Amino acid sequence: MDLVNLRQISVTAEEYCVCMDARMGHFTDGEADAGAMTAGSDAGSQAVSCVCPYADTDAERHTHLNASLSRNSYGCPAHGLQHVVGRFYWCDVLKALPLLLEQYEGKIQLVYMDPPFVTGQTFWFQQPVGVKGWLGNRNHIITHAAYDDLWKSGRDAFLSMMREVLSCVYRLLSPQGSLYLHIDYRTSAYMRIMLDEIFGEENFLNEIIWHYRSGGRAKNHFSRKHDTILFYRKSPQYYFDIESVGIPRGKVRRNHMKQQVDEDGRIFWSIRSGGREYRYYEDDRIYPSDVWDDISHLHQKDPERTGYDTQKPEALLERIIKASSRPGDIVADLFAGSGTTLAVAQRLGRRWIGVDNGIFSLHTCRKRLVHSLNRLYGEDCLNGKMPEEASKRQAKVLFHHCRHLEDDLEHKVLPQIDVECVGLSDRRLVVRLKGYALRPIDGHRGLEDMVRGMSLGPLDLVDCLAIGYVEDGVFKAVNWSMRSYHTPCLREELAMDVCHGREPVLHVVDVYGQQWFFRVEGM
Ligand SMILES: C[S@@+](CC[C@H](N)C(=O)[O-])C[C@H]1O[C@@H](n2cnc3c(N)ncnc32)[C@H](O)[C@@H]1O
Repeated sequence: MDLVNLRQISVTAEEYCVCMDARMGHFTDGEADAGAMTAGSDAGSQAVSCVCPYADTDAERHTHLNASLSRNSYGCPAHGLQHVVGRFYWCDVLKALPLLLEQYEGKIQLVYMDPPFVTGQTFWFQQPVGVKGWLGNRNHIITHAAYDDLWKSGRDAFLSMMREVLSCVYRLLSPQGSLYLHIDYRTSAYMRIMLDEIFGEENFLNEIIWHYRSGGRAKNHFSRKHDTILFYRKSPQYYFDIESVGIPRGKVRRNHMKQQVDEDGRIFWSIRSGGREYRYYEDDRIYPSDVWDDISHLHQKDPERTGYDTQKPEALLERIIKASSRPGDIVADLFAGSGTTLAVAQRLGRRWIGVDNGIFSLHTCRKRLVHSLNRLYGEDCLNGKMPEEASKRQAKVLFHHCRHLEDDLEHKVLPQIDVECVGLSDRRLVVRLKGYALRPIDGHRGLEDMVRGMSLGPLDLVDCLAIGYVEDGVFKAVNWSMRSYHTPCLREELAMDVCHGREPVLHVVDVYGQQWFFRVEGM
């Protein structure tokens, strides 16, 4: 078979869509069909969806949620459900704010944000290279700068950015909504005062202390082993469900108390005081206070780790999201990083909005969220096959590229990429990626040096591959392969159905963080 021609193009967004199969119950966490608040136009079409006009207000939305057992009865036309589970905006937060206000003012239930802490440091991203890297070989990992937390003009620049962001977050939140702002000792005093001004002192709820036991002990002062999470409500109508984050009291031994078993076989500890007996049942639920010392930070080898520095544990976000949102609500994180908030929100049946200006944040979030979408909805629609009736119920995530094209192309080195067409009928195309290498270009030795000494296969520099088509500037992925610890090998052959007006487009992400979209020509 012949090599095909590839013509580089740019896109404004990427869309990953899977169809909901019998496993869709996972998405709803057994509670409600979260995605059902969004509806698209035609049944089975891949058009970008809009927020369902039938479920705009909280009251309507929760009526719909209560109707969750008849899953299609949300007031949306049952034949045309197209579920946008989440949107990620790859751009500076200040650029995203007007876009968000236009679409989501007063509609977001929960905002969690973990902005830079003004540390004066650069934070890193560890990229495994090829099969060996993904199998855990430490010599096959390269390190990229993920983001700089440097603030050359000092803390004031950070504070002025945060004032703009927080004022906008206040407007984005629904009257039942809440904000959790994750910071540390460097900015907590400033943020508390700023938030009191923007949200009103009366809407301050907690200063949560997240205490972790990381290594390293200071000798000149007490070791700093906590972060601060400031919790504000938008208004007294805020939603909060402590029951959803209760934890069993457990078997901890209690001094001065006696362990007993009651007539129903339940174990309790008791103490008598003032002539009364107080009982503490082991299976009773207790509720977290404002000091959280039961959630560990991520260890070096933690399976949750994505390679993105400053990644937070999912358990932390799970507590926040469960307590302050319901299935179907919108949860936003405007400094998304590795996408922890978005991944947990998706898993718990919430919709999500993420913003980050880092290319490694985009790549990490794309992988994390698309993998989890596959797990939640099933992988039956991969290989370019969308069963007819399943295509009517789809879940999709969107990644908007709002950066300037020039930023995107900066420092890029066009690769030598060989793609072969191995099957083409009137309906179906199969292409095979045969090789991917950097073209030797003077002045760009830096990239080649990063992998010097590694023995690499012909596709090892490729980390993600997708095939699809472009509609209205949006790349619509139909079939994809993304390396992970579970799937270190790249699927080199990708197939898609072709039809008139849908020219195949290939999306490639390499281990240098470069990404390309190519129109496939000359078949
Ligand atoms: C502390 S990290 C967030 C980590 C995240 N909570 C997680 O669990 O992975 C802060 C993030 O803010 C992003 N960031 C910093 N300044 C930004 C800006 N002006 N606009 C958008 N994102 C920004 C960085 O790229 C970084 O990913």
